[in-house]
Amino acid sequence: MERKAMYSAVQPSGNLTIGNYTGAIRNWVRMQNDFDCFYAIANMHAITVRQDPAELRRRTLELAALYIACGLDPEKCTLYVQSHVPAHAELAWVLNTFTYVGEMERMTQFKDKSQKHADNINMGLMDYPVLMAADILLYQADLVPVGVDQKQHVEITRDIANRFNNLYGETFRVPEPYILKEGAKIMSLQDPLKKMSKSDENPNASVALADDRDTVIRKFKRAVTDSDNEICVSDEKPGITNLLNIYAAFRGCTVAEAEKEFAGKGYGEFKLAVGETVADVLAPVQQKQKQLLAEKDYLAGVLKAGAERAFKAARKTLSKVYRKIGFYQGE
Ligand code: TRP
Repeated sequence: MERKAMYSAVQPSGNLTIGNYTGAIRNWVRMQNDFDCFYAIANMHAITVRQDPAELRRRTLELAALYIACGLDPEKCTLYVQSHVPAHAELAWVLNTFTYVGEMERMTQFKDKSQKHADNINMGLMDYPVLMAADILLYQADLVPVGVDQKQHVEITRDIANRFNNLYGETFRVPEPYILKEGAKIMSLQDPLKKMSKSDENPNASVALADDRDTVIRKFKRAVTDSDNEICVSDEKPGITNLLNIYAAFRGCTVAEAEKEFAGKGYGEFKLAVGETVADVLAPVQQKQKQLLAEKDYLAGVLKAGAERAFKAARKTLSKVYRKIGFYQGE
């Protein structure tokens, strides 16, 4: 039986948080044995908000090193930089003609980002979901593991794919979003009703994968909790619930087990345990990432090989699309 294909990507903008790790990259690692996996560094998406060029370049390599440090094996999956494969931009252009302005204006993330970057509501920001559709459809992905915030983008990808297939016959596989329950949603440490975000202005709200041990522990110590002193999951206790979720995700236990472990203990002791557990998991990843970043040639080689593999797969789909829509391709 043919293996299912999986596609996902992360933007090399901002510092990745522990939410990116538990909600995305760590799960990708589990899937690399069972699926044909394509994991990209979405630098073309990143420029939809202004980036510092030197920083973008540095973060691109850092993310590549992080992917590998987290356990993605470049022999098993295709790791590459989005801009290395021109088919993304090419297919996005075609898909633009099958996407309506109205539906892009209604996308939640577009509305949020337009508010946040009111001085730079550029066409790319609005076109972001179409480029994402191009990413996914180029590789005929069956599954797209993403956080809940990206679900709407996978849904619009399905709409665009169906629209095209209905007009031109089966061309694209219609992907399913693959939302991972456990660890999928880690909330802000300062406002546990909000998702933890790498772009949060309050540095204490999020824990970066790059944070050192002391910083991690300090941020958890300062985490907002709830007024009583019971350590249990409850809708009325979003702060403690979030910390229990984080603990369970990093400890590799269930939330119920975590509740039991801390029953009757104080908030101070609990927060310290969460901080230490997270720091213990991050330390070896950070060390491996640092080591990889010192091996620039190795990283460049991995990304080059990844781009070549991605290019081949992408080109196949693109040329099918070009044929269907009537682009002359020589003979
Ligand atoms: N928009 C995604 C995010 O910010 C990143 C991304 C780009 C992506 N292209 C993708 C995710 C394709 C899944 C599939 O998280």
